Amino acid sequence: MRSILLALAGVAAAIPSDCPGYTQYAETRHPPYSAGKRNFPFQRPEERCRTHPIPEVERIINDDMKSAIKDPDLHRLFENTWPNTLDTTVLWKGVSAENANEELSFIITGDINAMWLRDSANQLQSYKSIIHGPSDDGTGNDMASLFRGAINLQGRYIRQFPHCNAFQPPPESGMGHAKRSIEKRDEVKPPYKSSVVFECKYELDSLAAFLQLSWDYYEASGDRAFFGKFAWADTVRTILKTVKELMIGTYATDGSINESPYTWQRQSTRSTETVANNGHGDPVKGGVGLIRSFFRPSDDACVYQYLIPANMMFSRYLGSCADIMRSIDGDLADEMADIAANIVQGINNHAVVRHPEFGNIYAYESDGYFSRGVMDDANLPSLLSIPHLGYENSSSTVYQNTRKFVLSTANPYYAWGPVLNATGGPHLGPGRGWPMAVIMQIMTSDDDDEIENGIRQLLGSTGSLGLIHETVSSHNEHQWSRPWFAWANGLFGQMILDLKKRKPHLLSRSYQN
Ligand SMILES: *[C@@H]1O[C@H](CO)[C@@H](O)[C@H](O)[C@H]1NC(C)=O
Ligand SMILES: *[C@@H]1O[C@H](CO)[C@@H](O)[C@H](O)[C@H]1NC(C)=O
Repeated sequence: MRSILLALAGVAAAIPSDCPGYTQYAETRHPPYSAGKRNFPFQRPEERCRTHPIPEVERIINDDMKSAIKDPDLHRLFENTWPNTLDTTVLWKGVSAENANEELSFIITGDINAMWLRDSANQLQSYKSIIHGPSDDGTGNDMASLFRGAINLQGRYIRQFPHCNAFQPPPESGMGHAKRSIEKRDEVKPPYKSSVVFECKYELDSLAAFLQLSWDYYEASGDRAFFGKFAWADTVRTILKTVKELMIGTYATDGSINESPYTWQRQSTRSTETVANNGHGDPVKGGVGLIRSFFRPSDDACVYQYLIPANMMFSRYLGSCADIMRSIDGDLADEMADIAANIVQGINNHAVVRHPEFGNIYAYESDGYFSRGVMDDANLPSLLSIPHLGYENSSSTVYQNTRKFVLSTANPYYAWGPVLNATGGPHLGPGRGWPMAVIMQIMTSDDDDEIENGIRQLLGSTGSLGLIHETVSSHNEHQWSRPWFAWANGLFGQMILDLKKRKPHLLSRSYQN
């Protein structure tokens, strides 16, 4: 991965070619250091090396949040993390070769040089609050344009290869394609072009991410007109066609096998990188309202293909986007609302299980028969994040039971120890907690003690680098993965902005003892 980054660094139009690669930059401490006991370094690239500066972001960091956050270490962590996507990952912004009015934004995930549908939608969500209207507001706020560019580019990718999760720079950017030697080990149906696709793992939440990004932009801007342009409705049609094929079960009524529209196999020593039954997965019962996913948001293979948090996320944003569709195609809007409602039925019928200690809880996965995977994984969408997804509010009894289960040692992927108590997952294995899961615990909590404890854990698990990492050993702050994970950094910023609204007193206190 490193060599890809170096090869592309010179082509990334956004910054001068002598700027240091951010992966390496993020691994070492840079002055000035914060005044608190943790002496956090300053990890933002120097100004000329930032990929997409937006003045309002600087103002919020240096004015609003400087006065709102009392603790110097906490402010430094916010200052390093929240702008990370704008500082380091907007590698190209331009327009389509076919239509000069169609904006495009190519936003990479961080230390992997490709645009993930899920990551880019979530990376931008952390800036939703600074979209003010459909157009630039004259103060240099082109956040709205950045969102539109990402919606248009994601739409183009999905219309071509709806089963894929991560993509190459568009030809308009003039950037080279990341080459992957590992690709030779993948056997994927339907085939795709590696000039467009970086990886083709089919994950339901990637399609949901496009709907989330669309809804975030619409909700913040009120810009309905945009959705009538640039084939947005065609993208939704592609998504519906794709998922309807993935609601069909393994067996036809006469016992013959329904051909799966997608199959995946990779030569790998990791079972989570390949799929059982020659790439089809374990059998699923069809017609229950749920949609199959081959992979989880961690990019690990599902055990049972009805991945419940992904179905919840898809249902929620499909239902919301039906409102946008209403003024473009009423029949399609009705169909979107129907599918969204059927998913809820499917979840209630197939994914609520009675746990001996916690009562009725949501399962993480189901097969539509009677098998359920009872666990949670840190990556979003997760069961912990249900209210954040907007699927159900936190007062739901089943959610509250589920949350207690997820945040306990009864969850097989809960990591605990002196450094971090948090959900993990098979991606990096047991014993590794994900700071992202602590962030989500805070964002779904109304309890001051729980939030304070979470903030302390996050401050104490950066490996002295003042950035949010992917995973951290629950017993050793210095054993962590991914130096540059833009989504997790942005989500930390989003959490702090949310606390400023909900719990300002928890930002105006000290975390020094
Ligand atoms: C949460 O959902 C319940 C049931 O759907 C509803 O009665 C309640 O008003 C909701 N609460 C909030 C804060 O939205
Ligand atoms: C994690 O939970 C255990 C058991 O309740 C507790 O002893 C430990 O202090 C917690 N760790 C953190 C970082 O809060």
